[in-house]
Amino acid sequence: MSELEYNKMAAKNIIGVFDSGLGGLTVLKHFLQVLPDYNYIYLGDSARLPYGEKSPETIYNYSREAIDFLFRKGCKLIIIACNTASSQALRRLQQEYLPTAYPDRRILGVIRPVAEYVARQDHLDSVGIIGTKATINSRAYQAELSKLNPNLRVEAESTPLLVPLIEEGWSAKPETKMILKKYLRPLKIKKIGALILGCTHYPFLRREIKQIMGRRIAVPEPGEIIAASLKEYLGRHPELGLSISDQVTHEYYTTDNPVLFRKLGEKFLGCHLDNLSQVKISAT
Ligand code: DGL
Repeated sequence: MSELEYNKMAAKNIIGVFDSGLGGLTVLKHFLQVLPDYNYIYLGDSARLPYGEKSPETIYNYSREAIDFLFRKGCKLIIIACNTASSQALRRLQQEYLPTAYPDRRILGVIRPVAEYVARQDHLDSVGIIGTKATINSRAYQAELSKLNPNLRVEAESTPLLVPLIEEGWSAKPETKMILKKYLRPLKIKKIGALILGCTHYPFLRREIKQIMGRRIAVPEPGEIIAASLKEYLGRHPELGLSISDQVTHEYYTTDNPVLFRKLGEKFLGCHLDNLSQVKISAT
């Protein structure tokens, strides 16, 4: 049997969610609210986090290994919840890898739905983005936004210290608030009308960010937007054969210590992380 035939056989009624670590659980949380009757497999590549500081080639290679793991587990559709992987690897995965390795399956990212949502807002003439260095340097958000609305002024800032602070459980510390203020000040001065949280971890600091930015600046919840867009996508693509399940299963995989993953992961997800295992996804 060829590899392609085997892969086709192995496709199951499962949606995969991939992130470089725990952050994607902030997205899955919204999937579970909006689309609770589907089967999900979550993979967090915590052993190799942060992706945000890595080169485009490394981000692509790591993402391909992660996607391959999820397809082998039977996922028909994978959402790359990680902004860094969405901005640096998604297009290449869709164009080069998917057509030969898994032509009957799909991979979606998070940048397009969030950019579409923001670009649709009335009376918005400027928007800010915060994200990892790799996400901001890729200019993926900037490119999507200007395609959707060429009149939109886009201001971007990389905020690399936020992920380690959140991973360290320092979200509520005054030091984190101080760093946030320093990062957000240039965007406040530029009088943006909305701020995109362009990183899976940042919804965890959304309340603090909203406080600093003030009432006039909208800070949409990316998970909500991505979940609504996934619901719409599933409605438009019945040919994928993804359907609701009577006996829903959720599985979680991490490439690093599951004890650590569970500790913060349950806070991110807002519920228990059952069926959590450690996996090795890299060839080396
Ligand atoms: N998940 C990444 C993102 O959304 C943040 C963490 C990382 O740098 O790997 O960009």
